[in-house]
Amino acid sequence: MRIAVVGATGLVGQKILDVLEERNFPVSELFPVASERSVGKEVAFNGKKYKVIGMKDAINLKPQIAIFSAGGDTSLKWAPEFAKVGTTVVDNSSAWRMDESKKLVVPEINASELSKEDKIIANPNCSTIQLVVALAPLHKHYKMERLVISTYQSITGTGVKAVEQLENERSGVEGEKAYPYEIDKNCLPHCDVFTENGYTKEEMKLVNETKKILKDDSIRVTATAVRVPVVGGHSESVNIEFAKDFELENVRKILSETDGIIVQDNLDENEYPMPKYSHDKDEVFVGRIRRDFSNPNTLNMWVVADNLRKGAATNAVQIAEYLAKHELV
Ligand SMILES: NC(=O)c1ccc[n+]([C@@H]2O[C@H](COP(=O)([O-])OP(=O)(O)OC[C@H]3O[C@@H](n4cnc5c(N)ncnc54)[C@H](OP(=O)(O)O)[C@@H]3O)[C@@H](O)[C@H]2O)c1
Repeated sequence: MRIAVVGATGLVGQKILDVLEERNFPVSELFPVASERSVGKEVAFNGKKYKVIGMKDAINLKPQIAIFSAGGDTSLKWAPEFAKVGTTVVDNSSAWRMDESKKLVVPEINASELSKEDKIIANPNCSTIQLVVALAPLHKHYKMERLVISTYQSITGTGVKAVEQLENERSGVEGEKAYPYEIDKNCLPHCDVFTENGYTKEEMKLVNETKKILKDDSIRVTATAVRVPVVGGHSESVNIEFAKDFELENVRKILSETDGIIVQDNLDENEYPMPKYSHDKDEVFVGRIRRDFSNPNTLNMWVVADNLRKGAATNAVQIAEYLAKHELV
């Protein structure tokens, strides 16, 4: 496959290169793409150095797949240009996710909906991906009616600049800021920008993308997204009200039998998911599975995953793998 990685110098782009390499994705030619600032810089892939090229050069090379992680505006402008020359774009930004004509794909849940006609495919938001991987099998069994989500999100979710901010604060160096406040030793109830209804965009992504992926607008969803000074991954406290009652043992069984999920839930051994240990792993970790005794048919659980892996790069590469395997590009 002739593959372009757009945003190859960024946090997600670098992880995409790692994941393509680790999973032995059949790359015959690689085109790393970034902004004009980075053209000529080198990135490493499979033991070789590749020079970063600009967007127009990449389009002229007509790659079969372009995996984008270069922000929403870049994607809005350039993804259709790649699609015009026959490239299938897998996009990590929020640009196309809620577009009714575009599919929002988590391979474990809905890759089978993909066809050759899908030239721009949206990768969901990082906090949504890990959430729906854990919710989809439970929704099938017990039908979710209402969800309350509180997130504890890693600074790596905000890109290179945020990682630099945390490192600078920890070493007492003045520098550019990705957040309006200090992030070290702090929690910001503010992920992405505020919208008119008082929620942030990140919170509304959790609400809207969850319904779209699970194809169920009737689920009532509310979310609070919080940025914490953590590097390894995003954590989520999830409260789920079901239409049907459940046995906790069945919930654990369903989750442990689901592809891509590892249940870590042994209180006697203090075993529960933590972002420090989800770092650089592809799975979604679920624990603290317990009944919410304040409400009927309601479950609490704690869901953790590496936002740069399953929340971005791994999910995008899995989509590319599906396209390649089913000869959809
Ligand atoms: N971080 C996460 O957990 C996560 C998860 C899911 C989705 N995403 C999405 O993935 C995207 C990238 O996130 P990130 O965390 O990797 O950010 P990042 O570290 O800031 O990297 C941004 C990348 O985009 C490139 N870029 C910026 N403007 C460009 C332009 N006009 N033309 C071409 N390339 C351009 C940058 O190139 P230069 O180096 O040349 O500036 C860099 O390679 C965003 O849309 C983000 O919402 C991130």
